[in-house]
Amino acid sequence: MARAQLHCLCLLTLYLTTGRGQEGKFSGPLKPMTFSIFEGQEPSQIIFQFKASPPAVTFKLTGETDGIFEIQPDGLLYHNRALDRETRAVHKLQVSALDAQGNTVEGPVPITVEVKDINDNRPTFLQSKYEGSVRQNSRAGKPFMYVNATDLDDPDTPNGQLFYQIVMQLPKVNDVMYFQINNKTGAISLTLAGSKELDPSKNPFYSLVVSVKDMGGQTENSFSDSTSVDITVKENIWKAPEPVEIVENSTDPHPIKITQVRWNEPGAHYSLVEKERLPRFPFSIDQEGDIYVTQPLDREEKDSYVFYAFAKDELGKPLLFPPESYEAQVLTTSTQGQTCATKVSICQQMPTDKGVSSIGTLVAHDMDEENTVNSVLHYKIVDQFPKFPKDGLFLIQSYTGVFQLAMQSLKKQDASQYLLTVEVSDKDFQTLCQVKINVIDINDQIPIFEKSDYGNLTLAEDTAVGSTILTIQATDADEPFTGSSKILYRITQGDDEGRLGIDTDPQNNTGYVIIKKPLDFETTAIHNIVFQAENPEPLVPGVQYNASSFATFTLFVTDVNEAPQFPLHIFQAKVSEDVAIGTKVGNMIAKDPEGLDI
Ligand SMILES: *[C@@H]1O[C@H](CO)[C@@H](O)[C@H](O)[C@H]1NC(C)=O
Ligand SMILES: *[C@@H]1O[C@H](CO)[C@@H](O)[C@H](O)[C@H]1NC(C)=O
Ligand SMILES: *[C@@H]1O[C@H](CO)[C@@H](O)[C@H](O)[C@H]1NC(C)=O
Ligand SMILES: *[C@@H]1O[C@H](CO)[C@@H](O)[C@H](O)[C@H]1NC(C)=O
Ligand SMILES: *[C@@H]1O[C@H](CO)[C@@H](O)[C@H](O)[C@H]1NC(C)=O
Ligand SMILES: *[C@@H]1O[C@H](CO)[C@@H](O)[C@H](O)[C@H]1NC(C)=O
Repeated sequence: MARAQLHCLCLLTLYLTTGRGQEGKFSGPLKPMTFSIFEGQEPSQIIFQFKASPPAVTFKLTGETDGIFEIQPDGLLYHNRALDRETRAVHKLQVSALDAQGNTVEGPVPITVEVKDINDNRPTFLQSKYEGSVRQNSRAGKPFMYVNATDLDDPDTPNGQLFYQIVMQLPKVNDVMYFQINNKTGAISLTLAGSKELDPSKNPFYSLVVSVKDMGGQTENSFSDSTSVDITVKENIWKAPEPVEIVENSTDPHPIKITQVRWNEPGAHYSLVEKERLPRFPFSIDQEGDIYVTQPLDREEKDSYVFYAFAKDELGKPLLFPPESYEAQVLTTSTQGQTCATKVSICQQMPTDKGVSSIGTLVAHDMDEENTVNSVLHYKIVDQFPKFPKDGLFLIQSYTGVFQLAMQSLKKQDASQYLLTVEVSDKDFQTLCQVKINVIDINDQIPIFEKSDYGNLTLAEDTAVGSTILTIQATDADEPFTGSSKILYRITQGDDEGRLGIDTDPQNNTGYVIIKKPLDFETTAIHNIVFQAENPEPLVPGVQYNASSFATFTLFVTDVNEAPQFPLHIFQAKVSEDVAIGTKVGNMIAKDPEGLDI
């Protein structure tokens, strides 16, 4: 194109030369005129031939000549050097016509020379290297950085029109471009594929080579420059928060912050959308991304809420693609805030224990980053149930959550369980935790026999091994089904040979005295037995087994040849309930091995 214009000017010169002296396009009387001349043209180009009219005989040139424009006395206006648009785009000149004495007889008349642009400047990137970063899952087409080049040529002509292009993306897998550039503005953004697939855990670093061309990039003659762009892909911090549990019927002042979401950069507009249409939607989000419950919840009305949190840009476009996958879940609960540990079990304290004792720790979790001001939790007991024998039985260490007994020892007889409501708060919000304290018995009760003497029993020495000859019973007032209340029976006297054993029913501590080895009249005809009832767990200091834990029993063994025997252990007979008194029910038949009468 530049060559074509040069050619034009040559023709013009030729015409002027041949047409000198003629009135017309390139010569004429002095009057205001405007000329357009391409920059960069060879010097000594004739612009116009002014014709003097009497009494004028000569011409004078003034104004922004820059030493380039001259006028010959005969009125030939020309420039002696190439023009440069970038130095001066418009020259304002004045031409005057003078008489022989040098007096101005006409003018000065304004002559304007506009310098037309040719593409004589390269576009240049302002930086030889650019660095930028983008969050994973950023919206496709949303610029996250710019490259910028300048070109001194006239931006109103193609010469100064810049065209940006990504020449190379590294790495590039399966020929998929993750980045795109606005070819006019140099704005770099993610492609749809980039928005979906970029994953910093797979590859966080990308390099682009970006070129800029002038002439709108549309001709082979355009100049170009290139630069490198290093891009770091950062993790998307826009994540669905953990499900939150909210204590129902909270009497705390609302709204209460329950959780939060954060868009990757500041300035996002947040909103909540309920998943299902509800009569009321008691949640809100502020422009920091903090989510609040706005009214007390009622578990019977609804025990779980699901809603979506959106982050949108200033035009209301969701910042994330796709937005659907993010949801928050709120569970109302009548028991336990999820940030609280469920249960603390503590032992009944003996009166002899002195001072404060630690009985457990409330473990609460804060969703904030650890070791920040937001993650410091503060604990406070706000309620105790029952308040018996008095309120304030428990203390909690404000910053550790360690429970202690205030002063009093606990008695299971007073209450076997206490419910504490503990307020856990951090800098911004608080939650209530319910803590159950089970008062567990310790072994301060001894087993006590229902009777101290089980009397006399006479048995033949050949009574079958395995026979149960006696049931005994002791009771223990400690916590049921613990080692403190379980009873083991021992025979402490009267059975040196170990002919008897005692099994205990674990449900009710009934003891069954059983023959383990055959009785022997010759060895021991009379067993003066002493039973002891014991717990597997040791007794607490200061409590001892006493006489009530012992019982006696006398077993006489008889020397019979062989006892008569029933053929059956159990006789059964059926009678109706209205049967007359005295009706015979059945026969009991026994046989004596010796054939003696029974
Ligand atoms: C590019 O640089 C020019 C010159 O410094 C400036 O006027 C323009 O605003 C810049 N464009 C962008 C998109 O930064
Ligand atoms: C430059 O980008 C626009 C959209 O921003 C597009 O329509 C046009 O085709 C692009 N030009 C070229 C040459 O790729
Ligand atoms: C919560 O409040 C509602 C309405 O006042 C009531 O029906 C419900 O029983 C309350 N629940 C509890 C555990 O207090
Ligand atoms: C048990 O036997 C002893 C000694 O033979 C006797 O003194 C006592 O009275 C008997 N007890 C009962 C309850 O029969
Ligand atoms: C203990 O339980 C056993 C089996 O259930 C039962 O046979 C026995 O009568 C019970 N003893 C007492 C004292 O209740
Ligand atoms: C044994 O101790 C218990 C209390 O532990 C008491 O009730 C009982 O009377 C005592 N028995 C005797 C025989 O002293």
